[in-house]
Amino acid sequence: MVMASCRTSDDSAGGQGSDSFCAGTSCVITVTYDQSGKGNHLTQALRGHWPGPAEGGNDNLANAFEAPVTVAGHKAYGVYAAPGTGYRNNHTNGVATGDQPEGMYAIFDGTHFNGGCCFDYGNAETTGNDDGNGTMEALYFGNSKGWGYGSGNGPWVMADLENGLFSGVNRGFNANDPSVNNRFLTAMLKGGPNQWAIRGGDAQAGSPSTFFNGIRPTAGGYNPMKKQDAIILGTGGDNSNASAGTFYEGVMTQGYPSDATENAVQANITAAGYDSGSTGTGTLTPGSRISLRATTAPCCTSHYLRHDSADNKVVISDTSSSSSAADKADATWIVRAGLADTSCLSFESANSPGRFLHHSNYQLYLDADTGGSSFAKDATFCPTKGNSGAGTSFRSVNFPTNYLRHYNYTAYIASNGGANAWDSSTSWAADTSWLVAQPWG
Ligand code: AHR
Repeated sequence: MVMASCRTSDDSAGGQGSDSFCAGTSCVITVTYDQSGKGNHLTQALRGHWPGPAEGGNDNLANAFEAPVTVAGHKAYGVYAAPGTGYRNNHTNGVATGDQPEGMYAIFDGTHFNGGCCFDYGNAETTGNDDGNGTMEALYFGNSKGWGYGSGNGPWVMADLENGLFSGVNRGFNANDPSVNNRFLTAMLKGGPNQWAIRGGDAQAGSPSTFFNGIRPTAGGYNPMKKQDAIILGTGGDNSNASAGTFYEGVMTQGYPSDATENAVQANITAAGYDSGSTGTGTLTPGSRISLRATTAPCCTSHYLRHDSADNKVVISDTSSSSSAADKADATWIVRAGLADTSCLSFESANSPGRFLHHSNYQLYLDADTGGSSFAKDATFCPTKGNSGAGTSFRSVNFPTNYLRHYNYTAYIASNGGANAWDSSTSWAADTSWLVAQPWG
């Protein structure tokens, strides 16, 4: 029986209706609706043991436009959780408590993660505190090695059972839990009396594999479990909120689903047809010449991304029909298929052939392609719907939480909140949104 089923779609968090409603402004996802009929909607996580960055120590809400996809050809938006983002429901209806059996799956973006605690979806404490071993049972996705980890460098699907992310029967290394980074990743977790399992697979094809199936951890407190029946999304049980990840849909069940049932669910997911395809790429066709106009008002809406002959830095500056031919050419780019990923893009200077826009230490420069894989990744950006709802944003392929941004008239890749000055959340959505314009040169 489905007790909580959340999906962001045209009807709830986003879609074509949201596109027009939010055009020219910024929108956040306030509610992720439970479609099971149980009313277990997820809303802003309030301050727990650990405070979030929003007013009152609450968590941030997700930008409504940062995770565009199509499902069966319909536009939809996922919940893009930057660090500090969290949703929760501490008063649910019909979710497992104590040692009762339950199952859950979620579809995540396997390329968006970090090692912070804890990008979770599932059953957690109703108190917002760490109430001890066994007081939560949630899917975790990321590359934290603080408690447990699997083979390779991650990310891994693990179980957050409180005071531990488990990749197998006990904390630490469990070789059978593989690194998984499918663009769309199905992650599954189920737990009942002295029994639990982790499964996962590519949400676009194939069946799920079993990564762990066995008894409860032998450390004290996990058998029997003491589940409390809150539902969390994007944080740990005690509102630890240093993690990052993207959630597209999730379901929690009362009762322990069989592998056959989960396989049937996966078949349904793959048939639904998740696709990151052509969302928001506009006129960005490899081979075409473009200019990129900043959208931040009032400072910068006549500014364009450009290099200049003084150095190899990339900046924005005012450009108009009366600009010199040299200035216009400096603000013109040739779109190329991504050097590291041909489904994304790279940008070659129109007046300095062979030199590409790339980042180094988070700042953007124009330099010759070295032919190496590092340069290729640093020069590859994946277009997405503009983070502000306008235009297009360009996500760094190797730093997927970072987008091409202007800050203080200089270009960087920046995350929405972070250690560097240019990661400032203020104007981040507008500063990372660009209009693809007719080429100046
Ligand atoms: O179990 C890992 C984390 O530890 C939980 O999510 C959190 O509640 C605690 O800090």
